[in-house]
Amino acid sequence: MRILLTGAAGFIGSHLTEHLLQKEAFVIGLDNLDNQYDPALKRRNVRLFQHQPNYQFLRGDIRDQSVVEAVLQQYECDTVIHLAAQTGVRPSVIDPALYFDVNVTGTLSLLEAMRKTGVRRLVMASSSSVYGDSIRVPFREDDCADRPLSPYAASKRSAELLSHTYHHLYGFQVACLRFFTVYGPRQRPNMAISQFTERILNRLPITLYGDGSTVREYTYIDDTISGIVQVLNTSRGFDVLNIGGLETVSLLKLVQLIEQSTGEKALIDWQPMQPGDVIQTSADLNRAYDQIAYAPSVSIEEGIPRFVNWYRQSVVRQPFG
Ligand SMILES: NC(=O)c1ccc[n+]([C@@H]2O[C@H](COP(=O)([O-])OP(=O)(O)OC[C@H]3O[C@@H](n4cnc5c(N)ncnc54)[C@H](O)[C@@H]3O)[C@@H](O)[C@H]2O)c1
Repeated sequence: MRILLTGAAGFIGSHLTEHLLQKEAFVIGLDNLDNQYDPALKRRNVRLFQHQPNYQFLRGDIRDQSVVEAVLQQYECDTVIHLAAQTGVRPSVIDPALYFDVNVTGTLSLLEAMRKTGVRRLVMASSSSVYGDSIRVPFREDDCADRPLSPYAASKRSAELLSHTYHHLYGFQVACLRFFTVYGPRQRPNMAISQFTERILNRLPITLYGDGSTVREYTYIDDTISGIVQVLNTSRGFDVLNIGGLETVSLLKLVQLIEQSTGEKALIDWQPMQPGDVIQTSADLNRAYDQIAYAPSVSIEEGIPRFVNWYRQSVVRQPFG
């Protein structure tokens, strides 16, 4: 398999690169190393693989269609895994145009480049946020997803819709994977688990929005990667699949687990819920199990200590550069 992986330098992209290279795929990583968070972290991710013969990293932007076309052609790619995005719900409320530019126009640019070069296989990162405050819990792929609560969610849903159009018009094989809060080593430093760990270890207050009862489904990175790889091996046609974790956890329980793993007590600054936030995420995984045999295996009780251990070893001891 010869794979163009967009967003390769990011959190999920770097884990996927590692896994695909072990399976002897040829991986072309494309990433613009943007500054949503410290690009030094992304450069460090890229350096992990730079000497691997089956890996080529290119700094570039998915919105630059001619670049994507040239890459697909030059490296004779047969598959695209599209992870590049503007991420995060709250910042999207502040700069919605940027989210639509990268996540929608950028995805369109990628789809067009694929169409022109004859590449027809696409696996694409979507998000649990597309469900909004869905009435039915857990969320199922055939639930209504036309009430997004943030520009980020609306942009991810729009990208799903566009990919369906290319499936319909040009026979693209597409899998849209709805990820549910992913965590683990190399997690984006602006996500809650990373921020809480850093601040709790440094005895700084953490901000909790709401009353701590909001619930999230957390997915350990190894489970997310297994979902992506399973879909590569089995998916055909057009699929939308939830790739979630083993269980849902309240915000307060999450903080308690981080406290236990760090051995420190959290200092909490309580704030009201933020615009765009959802009350609950929870994945029905039956379709993913039936179609690609997806079955997550890492519990939050196992995953949080693994994350905190990694954080202590990597982040505390080796500052980024
Ligand atoms: N991490 C999660 O919990 C989660 C949950 C749901 C969905 N997702 C989706 O999974 C994907 C990967 O998320 P992540 O957590 O690894 O994020 P990340 O920010 O670590 O990785 C995204 C990468 O995309 C790159 N990028 C951004 N704009 C680009 C552009 N225009 N051209 C090329 N590269 C660009 C960034 O530099 C970054 O390295 C994203 O699409 C995200 O929306 C993630």
